[in-house]
Amino acid sequence: MTEVIEKKKTIFSGIQPSGILTLGNYIGALRNWVKLQDDPAYNCIYCVVDLHALTVRQDPAALRRRCVETLALFMACGLDPEKNILYCQSHVPAHSELGWLLGCFTYMGELQRMTQFKDKASKHADNINAGLFTYPVLMAADILLYGTDLVPIGEDQRQHLELARDIAIRFNNLYGNVFTVPEAYIGKAGRRVMSLTEPTRKMSKSDEENSYIAILDKPEDIRRKLRRAVTDSDGVIRYDREGKPGVSNLLEILSAITGEEMEALAARFEGQGYGALKDAVADAVIQELSPVRSRYEEFLADKPYLEQIMQNNAGRAAKLALRTMSKVHKKLGLAPYKL
Ligand code: TRP
Repeated sequence: MTEVIEKKKTIFSGIQPSGILTLGNYIGALRNWVKLQDDPAYNCIYCVVDLHALTVRQDPAALRRRCVETLALFMACGLDPEKNILYCQSHVPAHSELGWLLGCFTYMGELQRMTQFKDKASKHADNINAGLFTYPVLMAADILLYGTDLVPIGEDQRQHLELARDIAIRFNNLYGNVFTVPEAYIGKAGRRVMSLTEPTRKMSKSDEENSYIAILDKPEDIRRKLRRAVTDSDGVIRYDREGKPGVSNLLEILSAITGEEMEALAARFEGQGYGALKDAVADAVIQELSPVRSRYEEFLADKPYLEQIMQNNAGRAAKLALRTMSKVHKKLGLAPYKL
């Protein structure tokens, strides 16, 4: 292995194949990932975590379709399957396998404390399955399999990442330096896109349709949703997250897309009405997302190409995973074998 490769940091993140990715995912995650792919300091791995999705009931045909669609959307956003590894979790069995092994190093009490588990258990009271409970262990396996240094995640996944770190440290203390202890990689502060209808909450696809913009929304829907975005009644365009969350969110979106500073934007719109601001945001978002949408359709129209990408990238991931797995097997004392 060359020195250069050794020094590179590994970035790993997972996204559920839940169908819709929003403007929040685009600005907060995907767009930044595209920038990282040309940075020689990083090796980036992005995984569609279909196994995690199974913790709630899925329609098989829809799940199958959504995994492929999510990969197509990654690529449509500009992620290059040669510069990054883009693949489906279930195609690399080492995830499940390491998940089991790490489960033997995770305490019930730790999992019981996970706020997402408590949350989901109360939402799906009729299906509190063991997978829902051990979800964070599988997530730890995802991360630790690749010697991940940095994990881009939102606030809601921080507790899970903390657990992954604890498991890694615990394992290393017992068996020597096997796992890299990962850290959160939080992008530029203040780049959180808020709901259009309740601008004090994060934009989320699980809320009502008018509250979010999907990356694949049609231009007319984007414009309609932005026109309806909640603002306030004082009619002044000014950046003030606390006092004017709706207007500030629109300014944030515009600034994130055009790269203009907030002050410059506020000055540009001084004395204008909210309608002008909303139209400007709509223009910018539509211009940004239209090419993504057309590339997405092109990719989806070429299933054999997508399948080939999935196959190749899963192979690349599996190769990396195997290195970790053989180390782990050895350390744990599992009898040696060759496949
Ligand atoms: N739990 C994450 C979420 O819901 C998805 C995920 C699974 C993930 N494995 C991961 C994120 C590994 C980062 C790293 O959003």
